[in-house]
Amino acid sequence: MNLSNKVKNIAQSEIRAMSILCNEKNGLNMAQGLCDLEVPKVVLDGTKEALDDGKNIYTSSYGNHNLRQAIADKQNSFYDQGITIDNVMVSAGATGAFYTTAMTLLNEGDEVILFEPYYGYHVSTLESIGCKIKFIKTIPPEYNIDFNYLASQVTNKTKAILICNPSNPSGKVYTKDELNSISEIVNKNNLVLFSDEMYEHFIYDDLEYTSALSIDGLKDKTVVISGFSKIFSVTGWRLGYAISTKEVIASASSLNDLVYVCPPAPLQYGVLKGLKELPKSYYTNVAEEHQIKRDKFIKALNDVGLKAEYIKGAYYVLADISSIEGKDDKEKVINLLEITGIATVPARAFYSDFKDLSLARFCFSKREEELNEAIERLQLINNH
Ligand SMILES: Cc1ncc(COP(=O)(O)O)c(C=O)c1O
Repeated sequence: MNLSNKVKNIAQSEIRAMSILCNEKNGLNMAQGLCDLEVPKVVLDGTKEALDDGKNIYTSSYGNHNLRQAIADKQNSFYDQGITIDNVMVSAGATGAFYTTAMTLLNEGDEVILFEPYYGYHVSTLESIGCKIKFIKTIPPEYNIDFNYLASQVTNKTKAILICNPSNPSGKVYTKDELNSISEIVNKNNLVLFSDEMYEHFIYDDLEYTSALSIDGLKDKTVVISGFSKIFSVTGWRLGYAISTKEVIASASSLNDLVYVCPPAPLQYGVLKGLKELPKSYYTNVAEEHQIKRDKFIKALNDVGLKAEYIKGAYYVLADISSIEGKDDKEKVINLLEITGIATVPARAFYSDFKDLSLARFCFSKREEELNEAIERLQLINNH
């Protein structure tokens, strides 16, 4: 059978490829962005209760009513954005929320601006619906944006800008000023902003976090994407959400219905209980725990000559692996796996042009024993 053109363009992600290689070698997987926290007990209890109570049938394609309300309440309690239930759709992960809202707002041939380094699913999702992507580089170590250049890249085909805040993989956290500059460009050109805020609670060094929907000029122009995979450590539950205008949410929910019918019913009760019962300190504790992991792991990377910056948000770090043998980033990460048994992701997963890039992404959201083991394994680089 001949495969469709659409599917031919969807390559296996480098992240999955490295995870498979890691399993074959029985290695330590720092490639995949699995959050290794315990699932909060209330979240598990909520799900068990829902199963015992027979909550097994379809929910609304918008998601469970009470969960949507709880997401709106949480958003308002953290950011005071005046979100109502009509602004919220629960989907099959942030991935489903992005796919359905992108389908709602974008047509084939539309151009979308994305900042590099990017999260690969954003690219693949947009390409799968026929969008053209314009990549704009952000400059390390702060991953700054040249806003004059950004403005100059908008054409009459440009329909949207997408940001990942905090960024997977760079750890960039957008400042209020940067979001205001994006707002100016969005409004001047009548664009849409997609703001993936999946890692909104993984913010370090007491940095102030600004959600795009807190910027006045972006309120009616933005789709915020977030979810429970990381913050409740339930990546396999497939529960995320989109927050946007009532009209966008209504249309995206029709697509949600078409593709998924609804998110998994009993699991929605689990995260609902989590949202209702976990105090704000749960979220700040997660950030504090990750900051300790960040400090420890990034120091270890630098100690063995894999230069890396102390990132500001999310739980990934791009480290310089030029000292590892190999003709390119891919060979280098394979050698790094051979030497240390640690699987990482090569730079090519995050850049459209990666020829001269010797970078690997490590995910440091690991249990303490595993992180300590990773740090020990890194020492093998010195002995090599
Ligand atoms: C930036 C970002 N957005 C979305 C996702 C996917 O989230 P979900 O599991 O809710 O689909 C990830 C997962 O790694 C991510 O890093």
